[in-house]
Amino acid sequence: MTKTFTLDGREVPFTDGQTVLQAALDEGVYVPHLCAHPEFKPHGSCRVCTVKAGGRMTASCTLPAQDGLVIESETEEVRELRRELVQLLFVEGNHFCPSCEKSGDCKLQAVGYQLEVKTLHFTQLFPDRPVDASHPDLLLDFNRCILCELCVRASSEIDGRNVFALSGRGIGKHLIVNAESGKLADTSIAVTDTAVAVCPVGVILKKGRGFAVPIGQRTYDLAPIDALPPRKP
Ligand code: FES
Repeated sequence: MTKTFTLDGREVPFTDGQTVLQAALDEGVYVPHLCAHPEFKPHGSCRVCTVKAGGRMTASCTLPAQDGLVIESETEEVRELRRELVQLLFVEGNHFCPSCEKSGDCKLQAVGYQLEVKTLHFTQLFPDRPVDASHPDLLLDFNRCILCELCVRASSEIDGRNVFALSGRGIGKHLIVNAESGKLADTSIAVTDTAVAVCPVGVILKKGRGFAVPIGQRTYDLAPIDALPPRKP
């Protein structure tokens, strides 16, 4: 018998071992998420995928699906919490969407639209984060980092290079490059690395191709992030 949980009143089937987020996405039901990625084990850091399950707010990317579980996702209470988390991500970095070459392809921006973030609400921190342009083919703009650790995980688990890491704690936590100089040019990173492709925002950029696809024709210009087709038919 198919096991199901209820998501905003809709029955969502799942297989043993799936998380609520995986099952929802497979069913074509969008739940906002930033640090979760189908190729990596979820680690629940951004909390943007929060749902209310059995009356408790919890991250859906680490929540094992359970038969009969009752989950709220698109309620105003849950959306407001997600909105605040996204607003915090915006104020903790330096995100200037109109001048960012990742605009229209950026998941933070797309989730911001999905959650109808209209103001930053919190005080902007304007951290001082110098850009690393040392590499001939890649640019690192730490200002846009949301600490999702996807590049860290990809570089270590898929590329086998360990180019990136997070350093510091709390508000001082930041992305670093694993080289004595701290510069990307002194690592073995390749343009074709998964770590480069997986960045959901505009931190790791390929030089010389920034506006190859014009603004207005990019991924989330054409369809909002919650209108993307399900991963499975
Ligand atoms: Fe679940 Fe980030 S997507 S915590």
